[in-house]
Amino acid sequence: MQTLFVELGERRYPIFIGSDLNPAELLAPYIKGKQVMIVTNDTVKPLYLNHYLDAVQSLGKSVATCVLPDGEKYKNIQHLNLIFDALLEAGFNRDCTVLALGGGVIGDMAGFASACFQRGVYFIQIPTTLLSQVDSSVGGKTGINHPLGKNMIGAFKQPEVVMADMSQLKTLPERELSAGLAEVIKYAFLGDVEFLHWLEQNMDGLVARDPLLLAEAVYRSCAHKARIVANDEKEQGERALLNLGHTFGHAIESYMGYGVWLHGEAVATGMVMAADLSHRMGWISAEDLERTKKILQRAHLPVACPKIPIDEFLAYMSHDKKVLNGQLRLVLLKKLGQAIITKDFDIELMKQAILANQLSA
Ligand code: NAD
Ligand code: GLY
Repeated sequence: MQTLFVELGERRYPIFIGSDLNPAELLAPYIKGKQVMIVTNDTVKPLYLNHYLDAVQSLGKSVATCVLPDGEKYKNIQHLNLIFDALLEAGFNRDCTVLALGGGVIGDMAGFASACFQRGVYFIQIPTTLLSQVDSSVGGKTGINHPLGKNMIGAFKQPEVVMADMSQLKTLPERELSAGLAEVIKYAFLGDVEFLHWLEQNMDGLVARDPLLLAEAVYRSCAHKARIVANDEKEQGERALLNLGHTFGHAIESYMGYGVWLHGEAVATGMVMAADLSHRMGWISAEDLERTKKILQRAHLPVACPKIPIDEFLAYMSHDKKVLNGQLRLVLLKKLGQAIITKDFDIELMKQAILANQLSA
């Protein structure tokens, strides 16, 4: 097992990464009160709930569960309320712990519930998708969707501990694994060309779910995220770099309809568009652009999106959270392994980069 820390002063917390981890032993110091609410969904429940129920009960805690329906479409205020119902019906008080067991949807919802219930209770993240292990479980962004926008209602709520068990990735559908790999590759593109080299050497093993390679990829990804979050918890600057590919990706996701393309798939093609624009700006070479596409393809990710009318694409991009004072800001690559956030790009070149990475039919 490897351990990393997110250095946030008194709110510093560990991330445990490994296979077949022992939850009773690892979680014991972080469950402060006597009551634990495990929030999960109906897909993860039959796979892993009993394992954690047994562990928490063995610590002498009183445990209740809240099982939500599976899916991004349930990440809303109505289903958030079911967590509050469960907490109140179980008579939970201010020193209870909410434990998220699932992917990013469950982590975001349980985290937001823990931020709001009785003005804030303890929170633990047990991410069970690769995407949630390398991204959403770390850094404290929690929330729900509103019919008018994704992740529009939420709070920063750091967990007490994150526990990422590679053995749980065995049951993950292939597309979900690839979507998680997109976020792993993102850390390499934005800040670590040596990690990119490692991914190029080990991508086949990662796709084959070698647990040691997955643990190494999660560790290196979380190390990047932990450092960035420690420097800029509330996204006043550097943290926005984590959105590499996301502005283009959100446009693809929104146009296609949520759930048609997975977030990671849209981010993959979005990163190609960002790299293509960086190339057109004269910052990265044609070889580097090809390198970005190749590693994504080896992770079974799409590097071009269906044809989307450019005006509609631009309209969706302008809804992005990184639009400040009406001005679009993009995360681009000054070089491979060095991202910047900038409003100084040529809009015509941006259109060319979008069009060049759409399928012709
Ligand atoms: P998800 O939570 O929908 O999980 C994907 C699918 O995998 C679901 O069907 C889920 O039930 C299933 N699943 C989970 N673990 C499994 C396992 N071990 N075996 C088999 N199936 C399993 O999706 P996700 O990709 O984990 O997360 C996406 C969500 O995360 C989005 O809502 C996004 O907005 C959010 N997100 C948040 C942050 C953040 O910083 N808070 C960052 C990135 C993404
Ligand atoms: N997923 C982007 C962030 O946590 O800031």
